[in-house]
Amino acid sequence: MDKLVVEGGHRLEGSVRVCGAKNAVLPVLAASLLTDQSLLIPNAPRLSDVRTMLAVLGELGCATERTEEGAVSVQAPSDLTSHAGWEYVRRMRGSVCILGPLLARTGQAQVSLPGGCVFGVRPIDAHLRGFEALGAKVRIEHGYVVAEAPKGGLRGAELFLGTAFGSTVLGTANVMMAATLAKGRTVIHGAACEPEVEDLGRCLIAMGAKIEGLGSPRVVVEGVESLNGATWNVIPDRIEAGTYLIAGAMTGGRVRVEGCRSEHLSVLTERLRDAHVPLEVGADWLETQEYDPREPAQRPRATDVTTHAYPGFPTDLQAQWMALMTMADGISVITERIYPDRYMHLPELARLGAEIRRQESTAIVRGTNRLSGAPVTASDLRASAALVLAGLVADGETNIHRVYHIDRGYERIEERLRPMGAVIRREKDEEGV
Ligand code: EPU
Repeated sequence: MDKLVVEGGHRLEGSVRVCGAKNAVLPVLAASLLTDQSLLIPNAPRLSDVRTMLAVLGELGCATERTEEGAVSVQAPSDLTSHAGWEYVRRMRGSVCILGPLLARTGQAQVSLPGGCVFGVRPIDAHLRGFEALGAKVRIEHGYVVAEAPKGGLRGAELFLGTAFGSTVLGTANVMMAATLAKGRTVIHGAACEPEVEDLGRCLIAMGAKIEGLGSPRVVVEGVESLNGATWNVIPDRIEAGTYLIAGAMTGGRVRVEGCRSEHLSVLTERLRDAHVPLEVGADWLETQEYDPREPAQRPRATDVTTHAYPGFPTDLQAQWMALMTMADGISVITERIYPDRYMHLPELARLGAEIRRQESTAIVRGTNRLSGAPVTASDLRASAALVLAGLVADGETNIHRVYHIDRGYERIEERLRPMGAVIRREKDEEGV
């Protein structure tokens, strides 16, 4: 296993280009199952989650290829297998979105339940209710979701996809994909409005699907006989962009994040402005301006955030925001409304000297002027990103163990940060933790 070693105290300066979005490319890859023609994604990010998804698709009989330039193509066979085992599915919850396309295309699906998640229970009951509304029979058997379409295939229906926490991103993706090949019209109420769901919908339209209302909580899908292949560039990764922007804010450097869609990050840029972080915003770039975050008059102000579904503050930036707040002037309150237990980074940030208390789904952060490097353990993807950010400003060296989590969602993060002046390297982890 690898670790990242970060030497803190270097101001970042320069530009970084954002990759294709992880959470857009995973459902788009699953959409390849809806046709026997080839789906080409020229800007697929080089992430371990993408490799895992390609392995899942390969297991189902798809021909998958990644070119030297980074494009990924997938072609599903006409005699698609409908059984996806535990081996790959367990590695990544995102693979659950093969259920909808498999069910629509083959009339059945047996997909391993993805298993636990470090930041709490992540049920898929809403996905399954959605399939049932389309006429499927669904049961859980020996750790598998077993779903069968009725004779004659799935039927369009009017359904509600909400959960106790609002909408469901992959649930909407799953049911929307299933509905593209169902007979008749499906109206999804309570659909997720995240840009990644809209991007998937646009890709499906490019494949011949009929969909309206994308980006709104009411999505209407008119079923078609079959779909065709397409070439689809996924949207830029707003979470990766936000992470690099926060790196600029924390180190006080001029960091230009290029190739992003700033409208997808409005809530982050607003909160950064509330925190008095100097910032410039263009349509497809964001840039932090040089300032001295340790100088009393310029320190970022403590600024509260509560995570919500889009366009609210994303849960996937909560840990990184907390890293920024550990060095802010004052006390900030961070509330997690999507995953109330997504606080694995909290004790690790505390090891670097951060002062954080937790009360149920709320964390109270008292900003400090000095974080100090320490060995820490990465527990999940976004927690790892938060630890890298904190390491960039902590005195001395921070060793981040179990760093494989970060490769799930950030393309070679150390190679993106280093040209901007970060002192960060990847090493084999001798301690083997
Ligand atoms: N929920 C239910 N029932 C369901 C589905 C969800 O109760 O059937 C609950 C969840 O437990 C959670 C809330 O609804 O409390 C929202 O979960 P959602 O289904 O929207 O999450 P997801 O689709 O499984 C995607 C991203 C996550 C991101 C969330 C929220 C992918 C591959 N994953 O997960 O990304 O945090 O949406 O925006 O798209 C990450 O990238 O680090 C990551 C975890």
